Amino acid sequence: MTASEIRFKYLEFFRQRGHAVIPSASLIPENDPTVLFTTAGMHPLVPYLLGEPHPEGTRLASSQKCIRTGDIDEVGDNRHLTFFEMLGNWSLGDYFKKEAIEWSFDLLTGKGQFGFDPLRLYVSVFEGDADAPRDDEAAAIWTAQFKKAGIDAASPRRVFTYPKSKNWWGPAGQTGPCGPDTEMFYDTLNLPSPTAHAPGWKGTEDCHPNCDCGRYVEIWNDVFMQYFKTAEGKFEPLKQKNVDTGMGLERTAMILQGVPTVFDTELFAPLFAEIERLSGRRYGEDAETTRAMRIVADHLKAAAFILGDPRGVSPSNVDQGYILRRLIRRAIRYGRQLGIQGFFTAAVADKVVSLYADVYPELPKNRQRIAGELNGEEEKFSKTLQHGLAEASKLKDKYVRAVEIPGETAFYLYETFGFPVELTEEVLGKKVNAAEFAVAQKKHQDDSRAGAEQKFSGGLADHSDQVVKLHTATHMLHAALRQVLGTHVEQKGSNITAERLRFDFSHDKKMTPEEVKRTEEIVNDKIRAGLPVRFDMMTVDEAKQAGAIGLFEDKYAKLGGKVKVYTIGDEAAGIYSREICGGPHVENTSALHGFKIMKEEASSAGVRRIKAVLV
Ligand code: SER
Repeated sequence: MTASEIRFKYLEFFRQRGHAVIPSASLIPENDPTVLFTTAGMHPLVPYLLGEPHPEGTRLASSQKCIRTGDIDEVGDNRHLTFFEMLGNWSLGDYFKKEAIEWSFDLLTGKGQFGFDPLRLYVSVFEGDADAPRDDEAAAIWTAQFKKAGIDAASPRRVFTYPKSKNWWGPAGQTGPCGPDTEMFYDTLNLPSPTAHAPGWKGTEDCHPNCDCGRYVEIWNDVFMQYFKTAEGKFEPLKQKNVDTGMGLERTAMILQGVPTVFDTELFAPLFAEIERLSGRRYGEDAETTRAMRIVADHLKAAAFILGDPRGVSPSNVDQGYILRRLIRRAIRYGRQLGIQGFFTAAVADKVVSLYADVYPELPKNRQRIAGELNGEEEKFSKTLQHGLAEASKLKDKYVRAVEIPGETAFYLYETFGFPVELTEEVLGKKVNAAEFAVAQKKHQDDSRAGAEQKFSGGLADHSDQVVKLHTATHMLHAALRQVLGTHVEQKGSNITAERLRFDFSHDKKMTPEEVKRTEEIVNDKIRAGLPVRFDMMTVDEAKQAGAIGLFEDKYAKLGGKVKVYTIGDEAAGIYSREICGGPHVENTSALHGFKIMKEEASSAGVRRIKAVLV
């Protein structure tokens, strides 16, 4: 079964069971201060899991683009990918454990479905603790499912219980929706196919689903999101009981195709073919070549998706741009190790675009931008490398007897030549003092990259009051900028923490002090006016008719689905702002008190950045 067939079958299965198939959201989360990238299908759905009505209803399914960079150093092994697709189905206060588990079992094992052998299926449920009881209900539903297939789940044992560390999902940040989960594993013991014999596999008879040996491969996770973890660490029942499930597409393809690793599926074949052509080497010729090719393919796939996203970012030294830069530069270094001369990243990325063009139309649409940005970064990096390598080789003598490289020195190379820490370590042959590096970095930046690294390890929006207020302030700022500077102003990015908002917008020159002042005044006037804030569900056409701004992402247009449109002001007071947005927002602008712009600066070519606070 090809990955396309798996994707289609999954979505179709849930469509037939009343789910609206929603397209993948952007890889760049908006208004979520705690993550840089979308790391799971549920991220874009957090407001709805918390009770906001979703325009498409209470049953949803999607194939979501995800980036997880926490595993960056593990890429090259058998399982870890930076970019992956997560298939998922959701119940927003609709069905719960029974349907979720029955459907999981039916889709995995049913005739005409995925066709997994139920005898190779094992599951785990939450064992219970002081916060929540043992999930006997899920265990009983599983036992009944196995029975349906003529299998006694007690012998051999098929339903295992584990503590929170294994069978609990979320919140990814400090607070947010979460709950016990049930995970499905596929037993690869003695498979005739080579799946079981991936390098490093050492499965034994007596291991169990959560043993790390690799005998059991996790394929799917059903989370019963019914709690909210508070800042005090308490688990409070949510307004509604939700289901959030996640199935990794690449892993499922690997198992169904009976291949040893995710890299042996067709989701990588054309990329390796191109890297082979460019390098004259052969994938699999030796372990080092294999690893380098996997890293190049993985990183450039992720880079192509980040650059080709509707909210595409450019390589830079902060936040998503910094991760993107690291991915591209690491790919270039491994490309050189493979002996590739000259520019090559755009050629590999182009294969990514072709491979995924049908599923993610934003890629072909941004084909040129992807190539242009990659070439630009490759050029910058090669210049930087030449200078930096000369400088670093001088330093080599200086630190010849040192145990580690001082953080300040690594930071100097980083700041001046764009050397990632790992490159410094590689060139100087020693570890960098990471704590010192972080301190040096903090000193030089208000927007610390260490913060970026933290965000990255995952985390969900803290929908605290302050974040909600700043979110409304962002809409107000956007509207004011369009009044002051003109309607060419469009949102290019938004990031909110509990302390401030940050808004990127298209405008090609520095704002004058008068323009800044005028913008601030408009927002403050509208705060004082106490304008109501409300939302309506509309079709894309209706939203356009109503003059809404915001991202008319292809996904909505294509589906003819409804979007949520937030309006600030009303017919009596005048419509001040109307924007497509998932929310949440305050109910009245008076909740904001006062608004102040702290900084207006360049973000990238043709894009300005404003940081502002509520006072
Ligand atoms: N959120 C869960 C996961 O990422 C299920 O979708 O595994």
